[in-house]
Amino acid sequence: MDRAALVSLAQKCLLPDDAAEASAIVDALTRDPIAVITRFDGDTLIGAAVASSGHKDATAAHLDLLLVDPAHQRQGIATSMLEELETKVTGYAKIVVRGNAPDYAWPGVDVRYTPAICTLQKLGYVHDTTAWNMSAPLPVPVAAKDRPLPPDIVVRRAAKEDLSALLPVVLGEWGQAWVTEIERSVLGAGGVHLAIRGNEPVAFAAWGGCHPSYFGPMGTLPSAGGLGLGSILLRRCLDDQAALGLSKAQIGWVGPVPFYSSACGAFIERVFFLFAKPLK
Ligand SMILES: CC(C)(COP(=O)(O)OP(=O)(O)OC[C@H]1O[C@@H](n2cnc3c(N)ncnc32)[C@H](O)[C@@H]1OP(=O)(O)O)[C@@H](O)C(=O)NCCC(=O)NCCS
Repeated sequence: MDRAALVSLAQKCLLPDDAAEASAIVDALTRDPIAVITRFDGDTLIGAAVASSGHKDATAAHLDLLLVDPAHQRQGIATSMLEELETKVTGYAKIVVRGNAPDYAWPGVDVRYTPAICTLQKLGYVHDTTAWNMSAPLPVPVAAKDRPLPPDIVVRRAAKEDLSALLPVVLGEWGQAWVTEIERSVLGAGGVHLAIRGNEPVAFAAWGGCHPSYFGPMGTLPSAGGLGLGSILLRRCLDDQAALGLSKAQIGWVGPVPFYSSACGAFIERVFFLFAKPLK
């Protein structure tokens, strides 16, 4: 697959916010494909469909990316690519359009990609779930004051050396997908902030594991709940993202809406339809 051509096609097809991150999005969605279907006009890539195998549900193939150059839309290209793709992903019970964490860019299809929703519905994909991202304006408005930290807790940025203590805690409490996202955030793609009691991480927040504007995941162990650690760590991550020059962060696949609304003035902005289609 010609990565540069795919990024260029994505830049033509995607909404402005997504087009600005097309490079990171393409990388996230092409890490381990099980099928890549392409269409060309001469030498120019004008269509692409990419699928992966479900990380959480191995009976599901995931349709991760579907793009047709605007100059070639409504000519049946997406239809023919999806028909071909469905014959290639053998051995799966269904094909779904939902984020295949940790390798995803969106929870599903942003409702503003209305032609995509029309296309999927025409081809027998059923909208079964709705999800949403919240947007956090950057820099974070100074509304709520952080509660004072309990004296036995230290808050700081995570370094590579913290992973050996942090990852088992995350795996035990929240699962493998978050482990991968946190590793990617710490090892260069973004950042992670930690609350530590003794030598044990008791809360974390991460950003940039999927793409730079993405905030998440975050978690606080039950033993450290109710201390205001989540708000402190969230705002530290958003400060990092503001320092990149971003005007907003996306809090992915939320989650506790009232928490984010009060902790950083975030609001629900992007809404996604998730789809599924049984495979014969
Ligand atoms: C979604 C997309 C791939 C569709 O590509 P396409 O090649 O134009 O799709 P097709 O020509 O195969 O259309 C199939 C059917 O979908 C429906 N459809 C597609 N675009 C539509 C539109 N703008 N309005 C209404 N229905 C539409 C129609 O029923 C169409 O059949 P018809 O033309 O016979 O009526 C293309 O619009 C695109 O690249 N959009 C931007 C990227 C995107 O949204 N990707 C999904 C998220 S990654």
